[in-house]
Amino acid sequence: MPANKKLLVLPGDGIGPEVMREVRRVIDWMDRRRTVTFDLTEDLVGGAAIDARGTPIADKTMEAALASDAVLFGSVGGPRWEKLGFDMRPELAILRLRKELDLFANLRPAIVLDPLVDASTLKADVVRGLDLMIVRESTGGIYFGEPRGVETLADGSKRGYDTETYTTAEIERVSRVAFELARQRQGRVCSVEKANVMQSGLFWREVVTALHAREYADVSLSHMYADNCAMQLVRNPRQFDVIVTSNIFGDLLSDLASMLTGSLGMLPSATMGAPDSAGRRRALYEPIHGSAPDIAGKGIANPMAQILSFAMLLRYSFGMDEDAKLIERACTNVLASGLRTADVMAPGTAKVGTSVMGEAILRELDKLAA
Ligand code: IPM
Ligand code: MG
Repeated sequence: MPANKKLLVLPGDGIGPEVMREVRRVIDWMDRRRTVTFDLTEDLVGGAAIDARGTPIADKTMEAALASDAVLFGSVGGPRWEKLGFDMRPELAILRLRKELDLFANLRPAIVLDPLVDASTLKADVVRGLDLMIVRESTGGIYFGEPRGVETLADGSKRGYDTETYTTAEIERVSRVAFELARQRQGRVCSVEKANVMQSGLFWREVVTALHAREYADVSLSHMYADNCAMQLVRNPRQFDVIVTSNIFGDLLSDLASMLTGSLGMLPSATMGAPDSAGRRRALYEPIHGSAPDIAGKGIANPMAQILSFAMLLRYSFGMDEDAKLIERACTNVLASGLRTADVMAPGTAKVGTSVMGEAILRELDKLAA
């Protein structure tokens, strides 16, 4: 029997709990097949935790996250909690998890699956076969930089400010993740900043260039300004293999890249920390879509991004590549069979809700594992 794997599940708000329910069915399916047993804990985060405990993430939840082998996160936030003030935002849950678990490399793939090539708003010829990876720095930059605040000026008017800041070490460790991923892919990294405007951007470029020359000369490295990158992603996205960029640019560019694939409802992500002495990395997995309050509770959300996040978890945290592939193949096959949630509907396909989609994936898993 393999050792139990400690898994913390945090469904959160909006569609989070609905799509996580479908992941739980996949986990139950795996337990029944006895390939693995999960030691699973579920807890509240975001608005749900604010309602129940008066905080977006309780200290005991943070402790559980630190003690677990991997965290599977849903999504947080919604209009209900928007008026509580800056210090009571549901989003603080994910920001605190990233910061305190030191999860500095956010891996955001944008992959166009063949059955979905027509779901993109871009022409099929532009996106067919797309497979790019954005590596977004996720514990630094303007998200956490000091000083930040709003101050009152001498004339009584106000001034709001945030700080973009990166150290050599912060840039190097996230760039290493990008270079190492590129070695397993097409061997190309594009580093993205605004070296033409920002001092921290110029510094970013210098650090990446030096690291590349020192340790990763076998990987091809290019540089691009962030605005140009946004344009190039829409013009010709297949020119990219791995993009490495700061927290804020990665936030923007990954939303943009996700829509190349047709739907936010399809895309998983992983956020990783540094490897420990045994080579294991702390990690959190979450879909790229948010809590989608507009469709929450209607049973129509696409569960695939959450299920595929679980597949990523199996691959990167538990070394279960076969099981990850099985889940990914089941999702692709269900799409190819013509079943679609509303977000990826196309002419000639049949519209289904969240739980019917989950059921179809389970049935496909049965078939593939038979
Ligand atoms: C994301 C989200 C978060 C971010 C929010 C919810 C804080 O947009 O994961 O991309 O800005 O990082
Ligand atoms: Mg975002």
